[in-house]
Amino acid sequence: MVDPKSVPRYTLNNGKTVPVVGLGTWQSAPDGSVYRAVRAALEAGYRHLDCAFIYQNEEEIGNAIADSIKEGVLKREDLFVTSKIWLTYYRKDRVPLCAKKILSALKLEYADLLLLHWPFAFQQQDENLFPTGADGKIVGDDVDYLEAYKALEDLVDAGLVRSIGVSNFNVEQLKRLLAVARIKPVTNQVELHPYLVQAELKKYCNDNGIVLTAYSPLGNPGSAVNSASDKDKLLKDPVVGKLATKYGKNAGQILIKYQVASGNLVIPKSVTKERIASNIQIFDFELTKEEVAELAALDRNYRSCGFEMTSHLKNYPFA
Ligand SMILES: NC(=O)c1ccc[n+]([C@@H]2O[C@H](COP(=O)([O-])OP(=O)(O)OC[C@H]3O[C@@H](n4cnc5c(N)ncnc54)[C@H](OP(=O)(O)O)[C@@H]3O)[C@@H](O)[C@H]2O)c1
Repeated sequence: MVDPKSVPRYTLNNGKTVPVVGLGTWQSAPDGSVYRAVRAALEAGYRHLDCAFIYQNEEEIGNAIADSIKEGVLKREDLFVTSKIWLTYYRKDRVPLCAKKILSALKLEYADLLLLHWPFAFQQQDENLFPTGADGKIVGDDVDYLEAYKALEDLVDAGLVRSIGVSNFNVEQLKRLLAVARIKPVTNQVELHPYLVQAELKKYCNDNGIVLTAYSPLGNPGSAVNSASDKDKLLKDPVVGKLATKYGKNAGQILIKYQVASGNLVIPKSVTKERIASNIQIFDFELTKEEVAELAALDRNYRSCGFEMTSHLKNYPFA
């Protein structure tokens, strides 16, 4: 384990701080796995959790948080919890509904960070989180992400969330948002790893005080929605392997350290106790500037999480 106090914290544009490494929870099953993963993470020194309404596992995450607090492992204020508003809840009267469902499942009075999960909306309804039409295609809704963001700002005023941000926004969408935002987004959470460096987005966010949060930092090797035939190619990349040997670390640790060394927050997912522990043991070595550049030079615009089933929707960000 690492001492949670030894994990560096990043200061967001509103002065709040967040541990640079968090635990991802997408595809962490609510069959006891995600409960055990969160417990293992909190024992291993994590104090930052990345959740989302759509992951449909927040009830178990909430149980793990509550039990850890009850047992004195940590206090609520030691923890930074992120969640994300789902696309069927983007109308201004529905954003608070989703936020309240999230807080109720997580058993928290406030979230540290709430994000808009994607820059487009689905049909606004409760029955189906992926509403599809007769043609089998996802049914979109023309509610603007600006309306949803305004509702997030109101949730800050209401004390239900401390910081707000976005996810999967491109530069044009961020520009449009920053032109009207009353409360600046603290982060844009996007896919980032050496095969998808997103230099232009990174520069825009840097210039505007928005930190990038790197999702799928390992290239999302275990996912059923990752259609690549060689899902673990990034973990097996020779440059990553060379650095792992040099520093006596594993490939995952090199890829996670790469994000921290690049100034990004990073949220690797695992439900495996040993991996959860090793993924945060990255603060006893430093990559050189040249090594960070060598990793970034592997860029090949490889996207594991393209969410292609939504590519017909207005504001699909990767067109
Ligand atoms: N905002 C968004 O739209 C969005 C999209 C995607 C992801 N995310 C967030 O980002 C988090 C991380 O991304 P991700 O889950 O897509 O992918 P990831 O963290 O790149 O990869 C997770 C996969 O890698 C395996 N793994 C974990 N540590 C490993 C290690 N040290 N060596 C080898 N394999 C390892 C995990 O297996 P085991 O679990 O079996 O150990 C799991 O299959 C998500 O969980 C979610 O919280 C957000």
